[in-house]
Amino acid sequence: MRVLSGTKPTGDSLHLGNYFGALKQFVLLQEKYEDALYFIADYHSMTTVRDAELRRRYSMNVALDYLAAGLDPDRAVLFRQSDVPEVCELTWMLTTVTPMGMLERAHAYKAAKDQGENVDHGLFTYPVLMAADILLYHADLVPVGQDQKQHIEMTRDMAQRFNHAYDCEALVLPEPYIMDDTATVPGTDGRKMSKSYDNTIQMFAGKKALKKSVMGIQTDSTPVEEAKDTDTAVFQLWNLFATPPEREDMVERAQAGGLGYGDVKKELLSRILDYFAPMRERRERFEGQPKEIEEILRQGAKQAGAIAEPVLEGCRQASGLGRPG
Ligand code: ADP
Ligand code: TRP
Repeated sequence: MRVLSGTKPTGDSLHLGNYFGALKQFVLLQEKYEDALYFIADYHSMTTVRDAELRRRYSMNVALDYLAAGLDPDRAVLFRQSDVPEVCELTWMLTTVTPMGMLERAHAYKAAKDQGENVDHGLFTYPVLMAADILLYHADLVPVGQDQKQHIEMTRDMAQRFNHAYDCEALVLPEPYIMDDTATVPGTDGRKMSKSYDNTIQMFAGKKALKKSVMGIQTDSTPVEEAKDTDTAVFQLWNLFATPPEREDMVERAQAGGLGYGDVKKELLSRILDYFAPMRERRERFEGQPKEIEEILRQGAKQAGAIAEPVLEGCRQASGLGRPG
């Protein structure tokens, strides 16, 4: 069973949504399955990031976040997507079996179009590149958040179409591993936490910045002495760091009245700081070792490339490209 997933390098550090929705599960799955690959989706970031230095910095940030969170290069293959450029060849092959209508139905494209954005071909083709990422490595299980589920369904569809077109089994159909089917980490404004909404709480922000984000979580104007609705962002975020008995206790405290939102926020802040402290330390240590990180990614690319090569060759042979094998 091979596990594979990727993260787009588009910011300075990951937020709580990325951690609880994705990274935490990556680490758990690396323990559960021997064969795991996690990459930095730098080709994908080209649809939004248009600056070389920024892309390099953001890519390094994903590597640091991966290592800080506990991904271990001895257990999982960590690599940069663009270090295995064969993925672009498979992307092309897949585009030729992908109906326009399928891509027109993709959420990300539809949303961008509805907002009147100038959509380029890269954004339109994004799901095909993502499918190639998965299919190139014969991945069986792809841990992703709910928002990526559609992309995995499209990936399966493309694999089936390719296999059918060339009457072969060159590509393996992956299964999504949906992390937290129902739970979406809320942002400071109560909507889904997302970079695009500017409502994030970053895992490794400095204490001051973290305090500002946490204190800025929107709450209603229920007076301190009245009961509080625990189905709101501040409590939902606090829950992420609490045990089930602690959560029950909090519900009781909230229902009893006398609990101020400010107190919950202070507790949340201290829990975030404690929870991420060991990871923050690890991240700081790796920050001083860029050469070691490059070496980890180089080794990772070598291992990933070795998996990719026969898969791509299988597709080339099946479709009659290149020298007959
Ligand atoms: P953003 O919405 O901030 O741009 P990405 O789309 O880059 O985040 O998401 C990276 C990963 O983190 C994906 O697997 C996604 O499902 C997960 N993720 C992002 N935001 C959340 C959230 N608020 N709750 C749970 N998972 C999330
Ligand atoms: N599209 C994913 C996201 O926005 C990142 C990604 C790119 C990915 N390629 C992938 C995730 C392959 C899983 C598998 O979060």
